[in-house]
Amino acid sequence: RDLIRRLSGGAERLAFPMTRSVPFDPPPEYAALRSKCPFAPADLHGHDAWLVARYDDVREALLSDALSADITRPDYPQGPAGKVNRALSTSGLPAFLRMDAPLHDDLRRLVTRDFMIKRVEAMRPRIQQVVDDLIDAMLAGPRPADLFEAIASPLPNIIISEMLGIPQSDHAFFQDRTTYLFKRNVSDGERVTKISELNDYVYGLVDSRDADPDLAPEADIVSRLVHDQLRTGKLDRRTVQGIAFILLVAGHETTGNMIALGTLALLQHPEQYHALGEDPSLAPLAVEELLRYLTILNEPNWRVAKQDTVIGGREIKAGEAVIPLTFSANRDEKHYDNPDTLDIRRGARDHLAFGYGIHQCLGQPLARVELQIVYTTLARRIPTLRLAVPLEEVPFKTDVDIYGVHALPVTW
Ligand code: HEM
Repeated sequence: RDLIRRLSGGAERLAFPMTRSVPFDPPPEYAALRSKCPFAPADLHGHDAWLVARYDDVREALLSDALSADITRPDYPQGPAGKVNRALSTSGLPAFLRMDAPLHDDLRRLVTRDFMIKRVEAMRPRIQQVVDDLIDAMLAGPRPADLFEAIASPLPNIIISEMLGIPQSDHAFFQDRTTYLFKRNVSDGERVTKISELNDYVYGLVDSRDADPDLAPEADIVSRLVHDQLRTGKLDRRTVQGIAFILLVAGHETTGNMIALGTLALLQHPEQYHALGEDPSLAPLAVEELLRYLTILNEPNWRVAKQDTVIGGREIKAGEAVIPLTFSANRDEKHYDNPDTLDIRRGARDHLAFGYGIHQCLGQPLARVELQIVYTTLARRIPTLRLAVPLEEVPFKTDVDIYGVHALPVTW
């Protein structure tokens, strides 16, 4: 109780979220919570919540089927974007990310094969080609360059668009609209407008496939869903649109930020950057370590207890929210030696940056391959890459729920 009062300036509950430490570390409060108060009472915009800080407890919470990720529940806590997100979900979007079993599992199963390791490994040559083309274009342009704009943002966009059958000319549009799902300090009105436009775009995508008499079911994921699910009446239009929506938005803001922030972290540790360039077989380990160390999503979606339950030996009451702090778990000193040190040789495959349990990231094999290729190709092709401004001048995304940089000015 004393700790909570100290951390909250005298209140009985902590305010959430807390501010990350720029550039790479979690909020300083997390270490104190792990050691003294692993389940901390928090005030989530007026809703009672528990912050879960230790690795083992976070994993247990994410596995618990007594906790729900269903944003349409009346007892689901509202965040600043809550009303909009809830409206999205009741209209069928954003699909299984916000559903509980068994419906979640049935819908997720329809697209698991597209993201299986074998399928994604077969895409390596194409991903390598895109990365090389983007690097060529950056090298041919002026110095300094913005690596976020030149490589980090377009790469995941190009790849997921090819998988979904979306024309390149639409990238800038859906890239811009997607950011409104995550931006803080945006008025409700503006958010609703921008996300409605994104919805309309996805609706149109599904409708145009459905209207195509020569639809080729295996051409891309959306065509297959329309052919196998919508036209056969197995799923309704909103559900198909919901799946297309989540696949479109879940991968690029996350992967783009991870590319830029991961590159920056490597540039701040030049020995590790050069080691990757000289020995690309380090790439799988390096990617896991960067995911752990940076945990760009501070926590997965909040959960709410459907019934009274016990997690980590602690009683949670029905209706209370649970926030599994994956960033804290990934820096838990009981689980990782020297957790605040970046060590690309560590072997941190059990990190929780992709979540855990039934909602564990569907796109993780794709994200892994993109990250492996981009970091090693940069380190091999541009060993002299360096920041073009002092670290303090890098515009970090402290105003968005997915952490990263707004721009990464580099030179070589
Ligand atoms: C779920 C992180 C890339 C698609 C998740 C979750 C996390 C996450 C933490 C769990 C959310 C929860 O439990 O509430 C990341 C990170 C990425 C990344 C850090 C990049 C480095 C991708 C990509 C895709 C993708 C490339 C491809 C489309 C999804 C989907 C879900 C998900 C569909 C929902 C899974 C479900 O509910 O069953 N991601 N993600 N993600 N991710 Fe990713």
